Amino acid sequence: MDQASVTRRYRFAAAHRLHSECLSDEENWKVFGKCNNPHGHGHNYVVLVTVKGTIDPQTGRATDVEGLDRIVTEAVVARFDHQDLNHDPEFSNRTTTGENLVQFIWDLLVKKIPAGQLVKVGLIETRDNSFEYSGPLS
Ligand code: NI
Repeated sequence: MDQASVTRRYRFAAAHRLHSECLSDEENWKVFGKCNNPHGHGHNYVVLVTVKGTIDPQTGRATDVEGLDRIVTEAVVARFDHQDLNHDPEFSNRTTTGENLVQFIWDLLVKKIPAGQLVKVGLIETRDNSFEYSGPLS
């Protein structure tokens, strides 16, 4: 089987504040630094979604890009764009770190993308910070 993976790039802008209810104010500041600022701050997040498929000999394509765009736009971009991530129910008791966010985006997408096609989700938060998740270890 001739398989190829395809990565699409999506964007959303969102605000957040890194703060854990499990930690004291001092500990929060120590762990999260200025990202713990009570007034929050924003990022222009980039989401990289990698799917794999068999290359169709007639079209030369390995995936339904339009279908993928629809799924990611509805499940991820529409949910987070111009929102405060700390107000999302998913993050009522989890911090809005890149690690938690990339894992949650995976969970949202893996339910909607045809089984076995999702390979990896990447999340770029800042110039210097990016995160990747490729599913639970089995
Ligand atoms: Ni931040």
